[in-house]
Amino acid sequence: MLIVGGGVVGCAIAYEARKRGASVLLLERQRIGGGASHGAGGMLAPQVESAGPGAALELGLRSRDLFAEWQAELPTSFDLDLSGILRVAHTEAAAAELRRRAEWQRGLGLAARICDPAEVTDLCPGCAEVLCGLWVPDGQCSAPRLTMALAQGATQRGAEMREGVVVTAVRTGGVDTTEGRISAGQVVVAAGAWSGLLTPAPVRPVKGQRLLLRQPDRLLGITVFGDHCYLVPKAGGRVLAGATEEPEAGFDTRVTVEAVGRLARAACALVPALGGAELVEAWAGLRPATPDRLPVLGRLPGYEGVWLATGHHRNGILLSALTGRVVADAVLHGRALPAACAPERFGARHQGGGR
Ligand code: GLY
Repeated sequence: MLIVGGGVVGCAIAYEARKRGASVLLLERQRIGGGASHGAGGMLAPQVESAGPGAALELGLRSRDLFAEWQAELPTSFDLDLSGILRVAHTEAAAAELRRRAEWQRGLGLAARICDPAEVTDLCPGCAEVLCGLWVPDGQCSAPRLTMALAQGATQRGAEMREGVVVTAVRTGGVDTTEGRISAGQVVVAAGAWSGLLTPAPVRPVKGQRLLLRQPDRLLGITVFGDHCYLVPKAGGRVLAGATEEPEAGFDTRVTVEAVGRLARAACALVPALGGAELVEAWAGLRPATPDRLPVLGRLPGYEGVWLATGHHRNGILLSALTGRVVADAVLHGRALPAACAPERFGARHQGGGR
């Protein structure tokens, strides 16, 4: 199996494919885990991020449940924390939305608890005054550490990974690269925001900017989600504050003053003492988005042995665990992939011409 792309999704497929005994060559145009997987907040948050029931929630819940297995078997830690996420409301409209969310999620049998202001303060002592909160059993991990753990797990099991090799074309039977043509019976395109340049799949970049802060007094022990930003506590007293969504920016990855200011203000509105935090890093990267914001997983129509595993938009880290397993099972054992992610859903314009 030849995998194009060394982000979390490519590395997850490489790892799961090696576990199933396949030979694996992964090609990464720059550095393994150097793209969106480096900057991602690492939230494993199907409940907090879902506005309603549907395929995104179902896939996210299935995937969230799989991380404990990776924690037990991967060679290095990726700081898995499934102790919950708190979403807070500062306006009546936001509070009503949290109550609605708790209700439909409990109706599906999921844990979802509305917290009064005192409970919010217990969970997050640094939080600004709120009307209420919603606690759900979501979680988070270190996205860069997860990607490296998967890459290391895959190479320890015999996968080959080459960095600095740019794939210029994907064909039936292999790929063209800056180092010549490489043959492969099965090619999996997991090239993130670049997938739409290599295939007819409608995958476009959605720029995201985020900040990394060092909190003054370790105020934040739980991930907190507000209306204008989320704050994710990280190792070493750091807090990740994210994120913008800039679909109009194309492949531009410049950090802008406007976004840094906006995220900093939103972070301080959620946890005022962060005004004294050190700004450690400002970062911008590209999420890969499809028109319906669900991933595209399956055979690329019009090609033989070419597969798509991309378009995870805001949920690449969360969905990596499920994607790695189901794509490896589909390519190696012919198992079915989730119907909601089928490439055919976008119609003939986005299918190949049998190259
Ligand atoms: N999953 C959060 C984000 O993409 O910003």
